Amino acid sequence: MEMMKALVGLLVVLVATMAMAQDVPFSDKDLESEDSMWSLYERWRSAYTVSLDLADKGKKFETFKKNARYINDFNKKENTTYELGLNKFADMTMEEFTSMYTGFKVDAATIAAAEAAAALAPEPEEELLDVVPASWDWRQHGAVTAVRNQRPCGCCWAFTTVGAVEGAHAIATGQLLTLSEQQVLDCSGAGDCIGGYPDRAIDFVAKQGITQAVNYPAYLGIQQTCRTNPNNPVVKVDGVGTVPYSSEAALKNRVSKQPVSVGVSASESYVLYKGGVYAGPCNTSLNHAVLAVGYGTTAEGVDYWIVKNSWGASWGEGGYMRMKRGVGKEGLCGIAMFGSYPFKRGVSVSTHTHSSSFQEEADTSTSTSRDDDATTVASI
Ligand SMILES: *[C@@H]1O[C@H](CO)[C@@H](O)[C@H](O)[C@H]1NC(C)=O
Ligand SMILES: *[C@@H]1O[C@H](CO)[C@@H](O)[C@H](O)[C@H]1NC(C)=O
Repeated sequence: MEMMKALVGLLVVLVATMAMAQDVPFSDKDLESEDSMWSLYERWRSAYTVSLDLADKGKKFETFKKNARYINDFNKKENTTYELGLNKFADMTMEEFTSMYTGFKVDAATIAAAEAAAALAPEPEEELLDVVPASWDWRQHGAVTAVRNQRPCGCCWAFTTVGAVEGAHAIATGQLLTLSEQQVLDCSGAGDCIGGYPDRAIDFVAKQGITQAVNYPAYLGIQQTCRTNPNNPVVKVDGVGTVPYSSEAALKNRVSKQPVSVGVSASESYVLYKGGVYAGPCNTSLNHAVLAVGYGTTAEGVDYWIVKNSWGASWGEGGYMRMKRGVGKEGLCGIAMFGSYPFKRGVSVSTHTHSSSFQEEADTSTSTSRDDDATTVASI
């Protein structure tokens, strides 16, 4: 049994290191005819080990062609700040995608309260906020763990919560721990694989705490009954805070203090993002939760947010996206509308002196198949 486990573990590591697929490169020539498109599709399918029966293949091929043309047309445009690619989601329609890989919810009452509060208080001016650094990246300060993969389960809300708690805990204690999303999915009552509420999940962590990923059954992408072992230590936070509604300045201020859970509207171009500073098109119908871990400015002067996603490390820039910053109140794709974060004693004081003293955990593995990258944390 132990031997078997060790072998499986080894296999996981091998598969993970063998190939870390990025998007599949292609040119105009590949889009010329049905035949060339089909070859491109087969090339893409083998890169992402997507296996389908023939009937599904035909249907998916139609979507794939549409996406390939969309990507090709987009990448030819002048003066764009980012690129799209034939990534692992290239055969999915938006409807299929959002039902499986997103899952952000927010209460109507929470929205109404936030809007009312914002209407009473004018948007805070940057200079009225604390003086914050011009750029900041929590990855360089030991407060961000490896990118994970929610797989086809709409529980982005659990991943963003775990990321926010990992960050708050690391900043307060100097200890970067990989915590359990499966436990948040199973035990928090804040949602399921069809969506959930990051603010409620953070509240759960304040009340009950979460344990390290190694101390809870591995992430499965399916909600199960809660299996918390009461003997395992937990990480707790002291409460949940909300970033002032629709203010990029307020979000910047908070992100300079800790990684923040944010809602965004993930559109077609968002999903097919390859790299650069993403600039839409997208609207503000929030459907996905991600983690804002920093912000900066490119050499060309484009301001951006750094966002950790939960679609595996083969998506975007190693699992991250840079999103254009400074586009107006709500932020690009609504990123500044609903930010929430855990309070943790020690976090609300200025943290910028804690530079590189934290120990970053070893990066976990990634593999190529659409749904399997970077989810092996707890199984090896
Ligand atoms: C791209 O930028 C250049 C230089 O700023 C400008 O001359 C050109 O008109 C732009 N092209 C488009 C399509 O906006
Ligand atoms: C917002 O964008 C999403 C994704 O592109 C789309 O499905 C949705 O219909 C849009 N909502 C509105 C109100 O335009």
